[in-house]
Amino acid sequence: MGYKALCFGLTCILCAFYIFTPIPENIEEPWKVRIMDAAIKTTSLVATILEKIGLKRLEDFLAILVKLDYTQPISDENVTVMDTTFSDIPVRLYLPKRKRESQRPAVIFIHGGGFVLGSYKHTPLDLLNRWTANKVDAVVVGVDPRLAPEYPFPVPYEDVVSVVKYFLHDKILAKYGVDPNRICISGDSSGGALAAGVAQLIQNDPEFKNKLKAQALIYPGLQLVDVSMPSHRENEHGPFLSRKLAIKLACLYFTRDKALPQAMMKNQHMPYGSMHLFKLVNWSTFLPEKYKKNHVYTEPIIGKLNPSYSILLDSRLSPLAANDSQLRNLPLTYILTCKHDILRDDGLMYVLRLQNVGVKVSHDHMEDGIHGALSFMAAPVYLKLGIRIKDKYINWLEENL
Ligand SMILES: *[C@@H]1O[C@H](CO)[C@@H](O)[C@H](O)[C@H]1NC(C)=O
Ligand SMILES: *[C@@H]1O[C@H](CO)[C@@H](O)[C@H](O)[C@H]1NC(C)=O
Ligand SMILES: *[C@@H]1O[C@H](CO)[C@@H](O)[C@H](O)[C@H]1NC(C)=O
Repeated sequence: MGYKALCFGLTCILCAFYIFTPIPENIEEPWKVRIMDAAIKTTSLVATILEKIGLKRLEDFLAILVKLDYTQPISDENVTVMDTTFSDIPVRLYLPKRKRESQRPAVIFIHGGGFVLGSYKHTPLDLLNRWTANKVDAVVVGVDPRLAPEYPFPVPYEDVVSVVKYFLHDKILAKYGVDPNRICISGDSSGGALAAGVAQLIQNDPEFKNKLKAQALIYPGLQLVDVSMPSHRENEHGPFLSRKLAIKLACLYFTRDKALPQAMMKNQHMPYGSMHLFKLVNWSTFLPEKYKKNHVYTEPIIGKLNPSYSILLDSRLSPLAANDSQLRNLPLTYILTCKHDILRDDGLMYVLRLQNVGVKVSHDHMEDGIHGALSFMAAPVYLKLGIRIKDKYINWLEENL
């Protein structure tokens, strides 16, 4: 009891403190954003403290909270919803009820959560996939890959690959009435990273090439090579996603070694032999002038971390660090970026790198956007920004898929 009261008191004090931390000026519904931001910051600090005193791991504590919001597969008047498995990986299917003579398009959606948290069961994502199915008249497949740190890289990635390859079989597409020429892979945040990485693999695999018509990436994180871009510097403390939490989760994707996030905070984590990757993620080359502002590019420092992680060279982890020949075959692409997001520059640079090799890209940039806003589309934490992002994504699918 004493312990709970102490936690509660501490939480209230922290929350009150965080509520007065400044947020960017042009943000819509600023007080709601402040309150949610304070709640997120408080939660992650409490999680950090619990971990430091050895009571609970950070990711386990956050997972308990995230799971409070999980939904059951409930059909509505427009869409039949069911949970099943594809190739032993849990998926939630959204099948439009409307009668239709021709085959339907399909969307495979990968949820965010830093490779460590989250599910298609998360209320706002369940709504998103439901609305997509209804509005686009598409079959939607929400995917729950196994997650780190219990199942580290490449397990989550390989799970998505398995689901996609399974779904792309002619027999399966026929079973759900899907048009094989109208399939999109989508994801938000780390789900965007998985979608982008899997799209690269699928499009460069002779057996599956051109089976994806499109990819849609919503504020994706696309690389871990350089984590000191202007967007990392400008949005270090959020709102919502701080650089520290993002780095902590990204590292948990493949290791519990605490030295890695420490090195990453200083941007000195890349091993020898990685110099060529910095060219591919060089913000000084690929970021539009408008976003460079007065930021000064510093040449990379490599080989400082011991033991080193050669895994960091892997483009399945950093799709932005794939070379031009790997990008050339990518399908029609939608990218949504948010100004107030540490991951903003990953998305902005992917737009340019894809356009440079002739991939057709549609880009929406939210000038008042915040990372993770899609997760705030349902009461009690509802942001108009989340709805606007959802509408932009679904409109693009309607027009392009
Ligand atoms: C069903 O579809 C109609 C038309 O798009 C929409 O107005 C209605 O809100 C939908 N129902 C649900 C439960 O989403
Ligand atoms: C990055 O780009 C800048 C300017 O375009 C250049 O001076 C710098 O050497 C590049 N660094 C790397 C590692 O590619
Ligand atoms: C691009 O990367 C792929 C996979 O890592 C590699 O096989 C290929 O040789 C690279 N191509 C060039 C031009 O560097």
